[in-house]
Amino acid sequence: MEAKRTKVVKIDDSAQPDRESLAEAGEILRSGGLVVFPTETVYGLGANALDAGAVASIFEAKGRPSDNPLIVHICRIEQVEELAEGFTVQARRAAEVFWPGPLTMILPKKPHIPAEVTGGLGTVALRMPEHPVALALLNIAGIPVAAPSANTSGKPSPTTAEHVMRDLDGKVDVVVDGGGCRIGLESTVLDMTAEPPVILRPGGVSREDLEGVLGHVEVDSAADDHDSPGTPRSPGMKYRHYAPRAKVVLVNGREITEIVKKVNELLASCHSENKAAGVLASTESAQGYQAEAVFPVGSRANLESVARNLFQGLRFLDDCDVDIIIAEGYPDEGIGTAVMNRLRKSAGSNLIMV
Ligand code: TXA
Ligand code: MG
Repeated sequence: MEAKRTKVVKIDDSAQPDRESLAEAGEILRSGGLVVFPTETVYGLGANALDAGAVASIFEAKGRPSDNPLIVHICRIEQVEELAEGFTVQARRAAEVFWPGPLTMILPKKPHIPAEVTGGLGTVALRMPEHPVALALLNIAGIPVAAPSANTSGKPSPTTAEHVMRDLDGKVDVVVDGGGCRIGLESTVLDMTAEPPVILRPGGVSREDLEGVLGHVEVDSAADDHDSPGTPRSPGMKYRHYAPRAKVVLVNGREITEIVKKVNELLASCHSENKAAGVLASTESAQGYQAEAVFPVGSRANLESVARNLFQGLRFLDDCDVDIIIAEGYPDEGIGTAVMNRLRKSAGSNLIMV
């Protein structure tokens, strides 16, 4: 792949992004280039969703398996009808309540969407992001934009432009820097072609919130378990994800005192083996650990803060060159479900229940 000269465009006021700085990025998207942009979940690596060649270069830049389909980003609800068949009453209600926002809906695709976008599936994933910079860029570009998270495939998703540059400098044309991402974890992927709808990936909109609008919603059993037999309905869920270089061990249990005790035992055995350890800790317990590096990720009383800083924490601890990262677990409810999904994926089979 030919090296590109990646230009970083800083947006001073995200709430009212300067149209001129976005106009150039919009033109690059229209002419087949790659533009990274902020969303409220994570940064996205965008290309014109209707240009098969441009979409192919997303896969090349990320090193992503070509059977893993992309989310198409839009800025108006009416665009759904241009891209998908069967915008049902249910799907329309969900769009009206949760868009713009961290919800991706799977719908039957229209034939003109290139197979490169959908990994050859008969469905397409659609999302209208809420971030004002993302909305302004989509609007100015005037095309639907296919965008996976802007990380190297397998790494934690980027929540700052610095993370993006670490992974993609020289591989994309422009990085639009809109500061840190508010939610910090990817969108909820909801399969609306099933009845009842099925959550393929937990994310920024919780099951509880969805059920408040749509009634009963199922959760795909493969969403959390990368070793489960059979093909997950969301192809992306079968790959190892959110994985730093270091080995990640996840310690969970009902009582925080038990979790802390177990983390301390693991730290003691690391040190007896001369291994350097990092802890991804809640702010409540971060002070108490004797480790080479401790990252206070957020408060147990505010799981949104844990979500927001999770990927930053994984990347930070990896940069500390520790051999092992020990992560505390959190309650599996609300946004905690998405936090635990990402932690389980980054830990693989290294789960300890206390
Ligand atoms: O928050 C987000 O969703 C971010 C921002 C940039 O919008 N994007 C993101 O994209 O996380 P990506 O490509 O990293 O994850 C998309 C997920 C993958 O697990 C993929 O397999 C699934 O959505 N997906 C996409 N299209 C699908 C389809 N037609 N059927 C089932 N799953 C699909
Ligand atoms: Mg991703």
